[in-house]
Amino acid sequence: MTSETTLDTAELLGSTRLFSTLPEDALRHIAAVAVPRAFPSGTAIFHVGDPGEACYVIRSGHARAIGEHPDGRQITLGNFGPGDIFGEFSLFDAETRSATVEALDDVETLAILGSDLKAQVVANPELGLALASALARRLRIANQRIERRSFQTVQGRVAAAIRELVDRARAEGAGPGPTKIVATQAEIAQLAGTSRESASRFLAELSRAGVVQQGRGRMVVIDPPALEGWVW
Ligand code: CMP
Repeated sequence: MTSETTLDTAELLGSTRLFSTLPEDALRHIAAVAVPRAFPSGTAIFHVGDPGEACYVIRSGHARAIGEHPDGRQITLGNFGPGDIFGEFSLFDAETRSATVEALDDVETLAILGSDLKAQVVANPELGLALASALARRLRIANQRIERRSFQTVQGRVAAAIRELVDRARAEGAGPGPTKIVATQAEIAQLAGTSRESASRFLAELSRAGVVQQGRGRMVVIDPPALEGWVW
């Protein structure tokens, strides 16, 4: 990368939660070795079982990790937006990719080789702590999903999935009132771990109750507090 681009990239990395504790020289070092990679909406960034050589930090756009059954059913394992990292598991456990990751819209990333990331972790223990914290957060969210799928009704799971998307939209700057989320009914169903038909029936009920307003591939959650009543 040119030094000007490296400076921009270092600034971008420094603004993410993961890299924010790193000193300037470490940020510049990672920026100098990071490779910009773009993926059009709907493409697979990598597939489950691929060798994992690099992780990715999202500059813009959104992606999701998918679990797939051989019969074609899918569930969403994780959602990623600007500033998030993905593809880090296989760098640290030396296994192949644990899931397929797909671009939900046009995605711009910075790819960082595993060897470069690990060298920075050794040189900057705070990066190791930040990675451990990010992994703990992912495990916590995964536990919540396991609990929901074991104990909650379909309605509760769909409501919780919509709340997760509302929380994400707010983390990306949406205000506290009615909140627009970009997701198809199929994506919401996959996040809730249910069929599209069941999710669609409940979404129609939420629309009739004035809690959400559905559009094509997106919806506005008009009354987020009312949604809470459905979650447990
Ligand atoms: P990796 O196994 O290299 O490739 C798939 C990626 O999806 C994985 O790294 C993580 O970055 C991400 N991923 C897999 N499972 C989850 C999960 N439960 N929550 C969040 N991210 C996940």
